[in-house]
Amino acid sequence: MPLPPSTDWRETVGEDETARFDALAATLAGIQRARSERHPMGRALHYKPHAGLLAEFTVHDDVPTWAQVGIFAAPGRFPAYVRYSNGSGAFQPDTEPDVRGIAVKLVGVPGTKIIHPDAKTQDFLAILSPSVPFATPEEFVGLVQAVSGHKLLALPRLLGHFGLRLGKVLGKLKEGLGTRVDSLAAPTFYSALPIRWGDYAVKYSFVPAAPAKADRVTTPDGYRDELAGRLARGGLSYAFRVQPYVDPAQTPVEDNTVEWLEADSPWVTVATLDIPRVEADGQPEGLADFVESLVFDPWHAPTEFRPLGAMQRARNHAYRDSSITRGAAPEPDGTEAWLNPS
Ligand code: HEM
Repeated sequence: MPLPPSTDWRETVGEDETARFDALAATLAGIQRARSERHPMGRALHYKPHAGLLAEFTVHDDVPTWAQVGIFAAPGRFPAYVRYSNGSGAFQPDTEPDVRGIAVKLVGVPGTKIIHPDAKTQDFLAILSPSVPFATPEEFVGLVQAVSGHKLLALPRLLGHFGLRLGKVLGKLKEGLGTRVDSLAAPTFYSALPIRWGDYAVKYSFVPAAPAKADRVTTPDGYRDELAGRLARGGLSYAFRVQPYVDPAQTPVEDNTVEWLEADSPWVTVATLDIPRVEADGQPEGLADFVESLVFDPWHAPTEFRPLGAMQRARNHAYRDSSITRGAAPEPDGTEAWLNPS
């Protein structure tokens, strides 16, 4: 029997977190700089893009009362930028097992923002798993570090980070990464980590409206090519859903290894993300490069949507260092040419 949404969620913030998370961000930025000696400078993680697109985000008129927060308080439409990516910090073929991501930036969002108070944006970032195998941000960065160096050293490094938990973590990781995904238009993308939603807390997800069929990805840029072919034929649509915190056992905020189950806390659709068909003459010139230069960051949000939990707090350091290291663009303000075609 599901419980009702609850406001009794609590964060447990460690006293030493600033130093710990600065160190993790510096480690990721170090890997990013080292890679730039052989490859173009880019994101510390999610280095390889598959597409940079325009989209529209429509807030529905039947959002439940508890979820009527910020832009979700009333029906509305927002232009958006979307970037699909592989999770790795390496430029590798799509045939390699990897995390896959979608990043969505809404423009024209009112309200005071967490990082850049006057910005007009709100970002949503998601991957293909509803939870993570890592108990701490150190475990996550430890894995990134272990696999980014020499392959022969990966196992000893992993053992150093995870100790006796290694088997369990690798098992869960393999489960997540091993799932065959033929088209990035087919699977559901999950936030995996919670955010505030006014007085409540939620995880969110993007569910494709029409299940997509595709051939197996067998080429290095298979996802890019498959998405481009699909978008030339028609648009894509996702239901944007939220799943509320209900209690500390079934929907923990700090322990993100626990999946919040539908049976304990049902998902609620509150908006739709529409990515329109890309015309035969292609995307507006410069759009893909512009999207590549942007920063998609869960901390780009109005204050009522603050990311929650230690993994999220660690991201607050990592995304900043990565975007400064790569000289990313400032937040868009909605005056960009492709949002205002003449
Ligand atoms: C488990 C939940 C997580 C999800 C859903 C997630 C998702 C994503 C996505 C989709 C991107 C690509 C954004 C883009 O296209 O620009 C990204 C980038 C990135 N992620 Fe995560 N991530 C997660 C956890 C973490 C953690 C725990 C860290 C580090 C502590 C981290 C560090 C980064 C960094 C450094 C980037 C590149 C930022 C930039 O230069 O713009 N992520 N993430």
